[in-house]
Amino acid sequence: MYIKSIELINFRNYIDQTIDLNKDINIIYGNNAQGKTNIIESIFLSAMGKSFRENKEKNLIRFGENEATVVINYERNGKDNQIKVILNDNKIFFYNDIKQGRVSDIIGKINVVIFTPDDINIFKEGPQRRRKFLDMLISSLKPKYLYLLKDYNNVLDQRNFYLKEIKYNHKSEDLLDVYDEQLSSIGSDIYKYRKDYIEKIQKYISSFHSLITKSGKESIDIKYITTFKDKDSYKEDLKRKRKEDLDKGFTTIGVHRDDFIININNKNVATFGSQGQQRSSILSLKLSELNVIKDEINDEPVLLLDDFMSELDEERRTSFIENIEGNQVILTCTDKIDIKRDGQTFFIENGIVNRGD
Ligand SMILES: Nc1ncnc2c1ncn2[C@@H]1O[C@H](COP(=O)(O)OP(=O)(O)OP(=O)(O)O)[C@@H](O)[C@H]1O
Ligand SMILES: [Mg+2]
Repeated sequence: MYIKSIELINFRNYIDQTIDLNKDINIIYGNNAQGKTNIIESIFLSAMGKSFRENKEKNLIRFGENEATVVINYERNGKDNQIKVILNDNKIFFYNDIKQGRVSDIIGKINVVIFTPDDINIFKEGPQRRRKFLDMLISSLKPKYLYLLKDYNNVLDQRNFYLKEIKYNHKSEDLLDVYDEQLSSIGSDIYKYRKDYIEKIQKYISSFHSLITKSGKESIDIKYITTFKDKDSYKEDLKRKRKEDLDKGFTTIGVHRDDFIININNKNVATFGSQGQQRSSILSLKLSELNVIKDEINDEPVLLLDDFMSELDEERRTSFIENIEGNQVILTCTDKIDIKRDGQTFFIENGIVNRGD
């Protein structure tokens, strides 16, 4: 699939801008704070139903305006399609002019893999960052998963609230059994999805790592870190930990604390890896993600590379680009760069996009 054009009306620093894109590679360059990431953000919004860097959707609307519109025209399986997002007090999605009831209805219409400078920190940050990576990947392919996460978090909030009620207001513990049952049931489904997708990544990560490091010397593997085994043992664990949970006022075990690690030569790259090994692992992880999506949708997702080049050296850049042939690439950078592939360059200045040479 590929994006043919983007129209931004009162979105961030854009007034009314149409950008016609190339099927292959699109290089958007310009100085800082000119609106490069805003473009990536608008595409992500249309693909995933939300921003990757902003929780307050109001902030996406151009200062002083009440409504923003993003229109993405794209081709998929030889057919033209359109996603339109209108942001005002609400967030409304249209697919080929038909209003969609829920955010999940548009997720997966456009498939993207996004790579931002922040991804470089995936190993340095806490488990939450890695769960976000995994959850985003799975949600983009399985809308049902999004509801599972939502339900799980609701029950978790209720259980945590109730733990405090028992502690401070001497409520009875009976209701905890109900929450434990719900948590273990939804948690079990989430666990299965995560386990499955970690295995899917594992299938690819080794071969990409060899390509990126240009040697077969290092072994690499991804490992799912969870206390979850199955529904029943989780229920028992929750019982066993009940006293501790009551003491602390929150639920200390469950899939909300899951994580994954990447090992190089059987050692956690987050702890023992060099800077270079960490970067190579991230590229291998991203390329694996790309291929997992490709397998699942039987099509090529669009690659969004925001400020991509800034964090990578020449050699890693080249090998990354070499390994993504076939996908439409939309990348932003501050300096005009030379990529050995057909493409279109755009120069961006203060929310105005011009075709470069
Ligand atoms: N709601 C908004 N209305 C108008 N302008 C906005 C809005 N939100 C952000 N901006 C402007 O958008 C610009 C930042 O855009 P963006 O993040 O795309 O920059 P960038 O080109 O990616 O820069 P960098 O190279 O530093 O990453 C800033 O000038 C900011 O003031
Ligand atoms: Mg930026």
